[in-house]
Amino acid sequence: MEKRNDLPARYATEEEIEKQREYTKKIANMIADGTPKKACVITYGCQQNEADSERIAGMLHAMGYEKTEKEADADIIIVNTCSVRDHAEQRALSITGGYKHLKAKKPSLIIGISGCMVSKQAPTDKIKHSYPYIDFTFGTEKLWQLPEILYHVMTEEKRVFCPNEGKPITAEGVPVLRENPYKAWVSIMYGCNNFCTYCIVPYVRGRERSRRPEAILAEVRELVADGCREITLLGQNVNSYGKEFGGECDFADLLAKICEIEGDFIVRFMTSHPKDASHKLIDTMAANPKIARQFHLPVQSGSNRILKEMNRIYTRESYLDLIRYMREKMPDIAISTDIIVGFPGETEEDFEDTLSIVREARYDMMYSFIYSKRSGTPAAEMENQVPEEITGKRFPRLLALQNEISLERNLVWENKVLRVLVDGKSKNNPEKYSGRTDGNKIVLFDGDESLVGKFVNIKITKAQTFALIGEIV
Ligand code: 5AD
Ligand code: SF4
Repeated sequence: MEKRNDLPARYATEEEIEKQREYTKKIANMIADGTPKKACVITYGCQQNEADSERIAGMLHAMGYEKTEKEADADIIIVNTCSVRDHAEQRALSITGGYKHLKAKKPSLIIGISGCMVSKQAPTDKIKHSYPYIDFTFGTEKLWQLPEILYHVMTEEKRVFCPNEGKPITAEGVPVLRENPYKAWVSIMYGCNNFCTYCIVPYVRGRERSRRPEAILAEVRELVADGCREITLLGQNVNSYGKEFGGECDFADLLAKICEIEGDFIVRFMTSHPKDASHKLIDTMAANPKIARQFHLPVQSGSNRILKEMNRIYTRESYLDLIRYMREKMPDIAISTDIIVGFPGETEEDFEDTLSIVREARYDMMYSFIYSKRSGTPAAEMENQVPEEITGKRFPRLLALQNEISLERNLVWENKVLRVLVDGKSKNNPEKYSGRTDGNKIVLFDGDESLVGKFVNIKITKAQTFALIGEIV
């Protein structure tokens, strides 16, 4: 698959951004008559996609669309898709298939697909030919041009398909409609240069490019002034933030500048590649209480042979050294990871190495995935794809081990007091309120609506595998 390494990114010019504002106004005028029009945005995949969906919703809101959660009430539906695993693609396609009937009932309904799944030409062509009721698609790099795309769909009565192409362009000033007033995603960079052999992301999100630090700082300042209490900085590999600025501002520098902003807030970040997570970053965290004591450090495998096949550029030894350094500097830090089970060629011995790194690293939390073959990636061409009967047996062994460790890591907090940012009523346990600790652990307690969006101190009375139970002190 094409790597598009030769295409340096650039920033959108003020004229280009203004042009999108003009299209936004034109659409606002077109839909202003009669009853308010409604927009529904459906999201699959990672936090980056959730952040992108908030921008899609923001642009639609600026055009005058009201937000709805119900597809049946919508005048426009946009499905923001994920390609990282086959399952996510199949779900997005199957939900989109159901919209055929909605469109039959309401022919004026406009349906679009965005995100990773429609960032390349071939899948876009497939949608074009097999899903005639889809009006438009746009890839991740075209998101900021939604007003222009939609205007053409609405005025020319034609279908518009925009996979990523040409130079990736980073645009500032795209409106955002955030889901939560107290917690915000802030993308600091886009794309990925790592080409881990199993991963589709570099092909669908393009080369790494960073937003300017001034733009990020202005966004965070505004959020904090509006009462936001938790900022999560997003990027596929935040540790390589700012590489194109030639040492002017790296990720640790950016974090330190964010911590200088006055206000009662915490800052988190994800994701970090172990090859780029530096001692400077860890020291910056240790020196700044505003940076949450949480580190997501995907290891993917505990076998050095598999790590090499994955093109991860670190060893289990260097990875464990990094974890040791983190715990030395911040003993209460919560560490989480991603692990892939059944990468091509993974033997029982390789898998045992994964179990043993989990035992040594003692993660607070783990996100585990069965390897999913992504066409066009090097791993898809590798021999020795691991059969489902084997991955199906390995996966529960890994989960059982991690559950034991999660409980052990949570038990440490019994009888201690933790500061918790209150989210609201618990979804799984509606008689309790739920919040998150600095380490991003879920805490359940008796509370009330007045506490939502506030920090409270909670004494932990009981630890469970997936949550802590406590009472306000
Ligand atoms: N199969 C399974 N898991 C994958 N991930 C990325 N690509 C694949 C794939 N092809 C996982 C990695 C990554 C997380 C976001 O998704 O663990 O860290
Ligand atoms: Fe995919 Fe690797 Fe980039 Fe993460 S660092 S997005 S796993 S290629």
